[in-house]
Amino acid sequence: MSQLAEDYAQFVIPTYGRFDLDIERGEGCHAWDFAGRKFLDFGAGIAVCSLGHAHPEITAAVHEQAAKLVHTSNLYRTGPQARLAKRLVEVTGEGKVFFCNSGAEANEGLIKLARRFGSVTGRSGILTFTGSFHGRTMACISATGQEKVKKDFGPLLPGFRHLPFGDLKAVREAVDSDTVAILVEPIQGEGGIHPASGDFLRGLRALCDEHGMLLFFDEVQCGLGRTGDWCGWHAVAADIQPDGVSWAKGIANGFPLGAFWVSHRAIDNRGPLCDLLGAGSHGTTYGGNPVACAAGLKVLEIIERDHLLENACILGDHLASSLRGLPSPLIAEVRASGLMIGVQLASDFPKTTRTPALDVVTHAMSLGLLVIPAGDSVVRFLPPLNVTRQEIDMAVAKFSEILQHFDSTP
Ligand SMILES: Cc1ncc(COP(=O)(O)O)c(C=O)c1O
Repeated sequence: MSQLAEDYAQFVIPTYGRFDLDIERGEGCHAWDFAGRKFLDFGAGIAVCSLGHAHPEITAAVHEQAAKLVHTSNLYRTGPQARLAKRLVEVTGEGKVFFCNSGAEANEGLIKLARRFGSVTGRSGILTFTGSFHGRTMACISATGQEKVKKDFGPLLPGFRHLPFGDLKAVREAVDSDTVAILVEPIQGEGGIHPASGDFLRGLRALCDEHGMLLFFDEVQCGLGRTGDWCGWHAVAADIQPDGVSWAKGIANGFPLGAFWVSHRAIDNRGPLCDLLGAGSHGTTYGGNPVACAAGLKVLEIIERDHLLENACILGDHLASSLRGLPSPLIAEVRASGLMIGVQLASDFPKTTRTPALDVVTHAMSLGLLVIPAGDSVVRFLPPLNVTRQEIDMAVAKFSEILQHFDSTP
């Protein structure tokens, strides 16, 4: 056992099922452990490091801002927060942004917005979907449509119902006089890379319009470039606009930052929705931290300047089609949207020690490839948006070797 592993075992609360790997540093699409072993990193910190590790311009932006001002609280205004809010509104639509520190907190904010919106009519019900993942706070585990995150944590926050993902009829039937909002991942990430259909999202929009409800997209994993578009939902329904969007992960290349956007639309006589959370209604000490926002601004600037949305589309197609082209009976399906790619392993995957996904990911690690499990049987490929064709070809060749190992295991 490494010294790090011993220290973790002794001093860190064991909430995470970690792999046996101690990472020391990263550069671009690669990471190294303390023994100098090199890994091709196609997990990017679970869809976080959109520009790869240690991007020199992000490092410089963080240094520069840290030397000027690290924190001053939300009692005052700072430049990076205003500039990043403006940029996020430009890429999303007319509205306003609130900054927090994680994806769960971003969803918490949207949930509070829904509750405040519903307070005048006495509505508080929020519909979410099976297989979804919205974070680990009490409200977010209540919203998440997976039992495993809720186990032993009751009583949960009341008011959430989970409906079958993609079943518009079930949603229509579930809407009642208490329902105030729908929260949905346009592309389910932790659930195993499942894109919603365009018709499903359009149907949810129509239902919300019909009943005066709010439609929220959780874009924590699929937003801000991963799918090859600033707006993840554009991959399936570019013609609709939600009332709120949550972000985190790729927004600042690993610097902790979350945010949610709220539409300017006025839905009732209380004026623009984005002004409903007024002074004193919501907040967080670190929200909109100048260093985190400077990192976020630089991320968005580089994605735009280096045409990385196009790169995510073109190389995402290349990666997905290369994986589909592997002659392995162990791949049942490859689901993809830009560089958000899930390999569904076959249901007759050879007997494994834990789950098929964990076994494949662990073996991949031993061969120098980092990929991410989702559930029991999906392996996710989430490389940085500036990944190269050569790096993709290397990853696919390694993955082919990995599958052959299982295919030939008696
Ligand atoms: C879609 C989605 N929403 C919310 C979250 C929670 O984000 P965080 O871990 O930053 O709280 C995640 C994290 O995986 C996610 O994938």
